[in-house]
Amino acid sequence: MAAGISRNLVKEVVNRRLKSGARVGLRQLSIDGGGGPAIPQSSKKGRLLTGATIGLIIAGGSYVSTVDEATFCGWLFSATKLVNPLFALLDAEVAHRLAISAAARGWVPREKRPDPSILGLEVWGRKFSNPLGLAAGFDKNAEAVEGLLGLGFGFVEVGSVTPVPQEGNAKPRIFRLRQEGAIINRCGFNSEGILAVARRLGVQHGKRKLDETSSSSSTSNDEVKHGGKAGPGILGVNIGKNKTSEDASADYVQGVHTLSQYADYLVINISSPNTPGLRKLQGRKQLKDLVKKVQAARDEMQWAEEGPPPLLVKIAPDLSKQDLEDIAAVSLTLRLDGLIISNTTISRPDPVNENPLAKEAGGLSGKPLFDLSTNVLKEMYILTRGKIPLIGCGGISSGEDAYKKIRAGATLVQLYTAFAYGGPALIPQIKAELAECLIRDGFRSVYDAVGADCR
Ligand SMILES: Cc1cc2nc3c(=O)[nH]c(=O)nc-3n(C[C@H](O)[C@H](O)[C@H](O)COP(=O)(O)O)c2cc1C
Repeated sequence: MAAGISRNLVKEVVNRRLKSGARVGLRQLSIDGGGGPAIPQSSKKGRLLTGATIGLIIAGGSYVSTVDEATFCGWLFSATKLVNPLFALLDAEVAHRLAISAAARGWVPREKRPDPSILGLEVWGRKFSNPLGLAAGFDKNAEAVEGLLGLGFGFVEVGSVTPVPQEGNAKPRIFRLRQEGAIINRCGFNSEGILAVARRLGVQHGKRKLDETSSSSSTSNDEVKHGGKAGPGILGVNIGKNKTSEDASADYVQGVHTLSQYADYLVINISSPNTPGLRKLQGRKQLKDLVKKVQAARDEMQWAEEGPPPLLVKIAPDLSKQDLEDIAAVSLTLRLDGLIISNTTISRPDPVNENPLAKEAGGLSGKPLFDLSTNVLKEMYILTRGKIPLIGCGGISSGEDAYKKIRAGATLVQLYTAFAYGGPALIPQIKAELAECLIRDGFRSVYDAVGADCR
């Protein structure tokens, strides 16, 4: 819609300039031909400039009016690159707030071009138009789901949401390591809480269902639509726990009770390094108890025919071999629907430790996390024998990176940091590159490439 509006706006401006330009031209002609006083040299230059500008606008305008929607959409996405340097001047959290506000208001481009069909896939009975998702932490309070889905992500994960609203850690708590393509954050689950998020998702859910009904009546059944564009989009809800809560499982159960009706999939986040004790929940016994309780809470709710949303666990990249074996065993025994690998790392891999900001406490994300998280992903794919869908996350900034995650065992992929730096233009770029990688290596679908490096 934004593209359509902008296109009309350009046409409108051109038309107005044409009309006023024509008036100016007539007036000037009458002056020239009227035998009046000699026109100073500077005015001649001015007229020449005005004429040239009008000419350019006419040429540009007529070109725009002949350009198809897809090309115009491409322009809009590319144009967002111009804004990136301005965002870079702002404090990281202020820039993030602005980005969320813009997306919430629909002041972002809307993807109109269909995804390459090779990227379409079905996971947990849900159709994804492409496997690239936005990771948790960007839209913590579900303020901008529609705008973000409309950018062309295959899915968007909101949260982490805590049961009770909490402020999180003191600011500053997000640090950019621009040179390294990385971020260190110690947000500590700043969240408006499950009730505020449920209220927001409730409003959007009604609208999304309505879109779903109207779009399904006008499209064929096997056509996969872009999230948020003409279809409902895939929405993940990531649940966290309050800092002061003594009973972690009660927090997750509360989150599930309140939010699962709005989610296409649910995530228990037990891997943030910024909530003391949270990562201990990844231990074999603790994880088993927690997953059982959350699964029971979800299953005792009333569900329509399609059943409850799948339940995933998000894990850290800083786990021992034994930890990974335990998590794999629990996941297989309890038939967990998926794992997200991974959250941020508390380690400081090269070349980050040379940056003075490396000593800031918190989790590191972005490029330096890529190898570590991809190795854990590969290990987990082997341990779970490819039986559980894995979401690969950590350091993706190109289509080639996304492809490597898929080859390492990911069925879906997510990113955060590269999007924070690269903005909307990065999304179509990654999708196009990923499609190229698959075709180049002779794969006919994303599924065919999943785990290719582990065989
Ligand atoms: C500022 C910031 C806040 C984050 N908040 C959350 C969060 O609330 N919950 C969560 O599961 N992950 C959170 N993450 C982690 C990301 O979802 C992702 O797992 C991690 O950044 C690795 O991906 P990336 O290298 O593409 O950024 C956050 C990351 C950043 C940079």
